[in-house]
Amino acid sequence: MMLVIMSTLIADDPYAGSEMPFAADPTPVRLDGVTKHYGHGRGRVTALDNVSLAFGAGSFTAVLGASGSGKSTLLQCAAGLEKPSSGSVHLCGTDLNSLSDRQQTVLRRKRVGFVFQGLNLLPELTIAENIALPLRLGHRRVQRAGIADAAARVGLNAAQLRRLPSELSGGQQQRAAIARALVSRPEVIFADEPTGALDPYTATSVLNLLRETAQGTTVVIVTHDPQVVRFCDQAVFVYAGRIESVVPSPEPDAVAAWLHEYGARAAGGSSSYNGGAQ
Ligand SMILES: Nc1ncnc2c1ncn2[C@@H]1O[C@H](COP(=O)(O)OP(=O)(O)OP(=O)(O)O)[C@@H](O)[C@H]1O
Ligand SMILES: [Mg+2]
Repeated sequence: MMLVIMSTLIADDPYAGSEMPFAADPTPVRLDGVTKHYGHGRGRVTALDNVSLAFGAGSFTAVLGASGSGKSTLLQCAAGLEKPSSGSVHLCGTDLNSLSDRQQTVLRRKRVGFVFQGLNLLPELTIAENIALPLRLGHRRVQRAGIADAAARVGLNAAQLRRLPSELSGGQQQRAAIARALVSRPEVIFADEPTGALDPYTATSVLNLLRETAQGTTVVIVTHDPQVVRFCDQAVFVYAGRIESVVPSPEPDAVAAWLHEYGARAAGGSSSYNGGAQ
């Protein structure tokens, strides 16, 4: 997984300087009948089970569900970082099955931003260099003011920009990762628990920032935090690899209650849930 993400960041760009052959789409992210298995035989796990979902342009969605229900797998398949066992994914108007790995990498680099908890900043680069990375890799102009602006928007100051990731707190590193996702002004942002390492005040300001950025950008956030739905147009509930429901503008209290129920069902191993195992 990390290798795939790193290749997203560092693979050569065969289309550098040329226009990409990708069209704009009113539904920038679409999954049709996506199933994802991990492993084989008796150890096989079905992380996603025939999932069909569409995220409209400019929509802001929270994906919620118990631990192990398939949220991260859903995000990774939607981003083309994991290949579905069956079904298809359209990203920014293009069927990922029709693209080579390299073309997928270029599409992601130019049009998609990521904030994944497991996606660490590159340790030998300063925070400013990390934030500038998507622009450099995309052969786009890097302006110091643009980097400082992206950093300031997530609450990082000039001194912090000069430091290495190891010299920042976990929450500050997370903010730098968010600035890096924003800096190239992508059409789609995928974020896996982007506020997990943040205090409530910073989490709120980061979500406000993402929300602002979502003017025209499609944002999909995996989260365990019911409060996140206050910023979202809709919440997608995942249970045992399936979409349980899609709820427009839910209340955080109702979401907390649903999550509690899903968690209890998952932990209790009720007949409808087997942890995803086949
Ligand atoms: N690389 C992998 N190899 C094998 N099984 C995997 C792999 N990735 C995920 N799984 C399994 O797929 C299922 C869904 O995992 P996933 O990471 O998508 O869950 P999640 O909803 O994101 O959980 P969490 O809230 O704990 O992050 C789990 O049963 C998990 O063990
Ligand atoms: Mg996860």
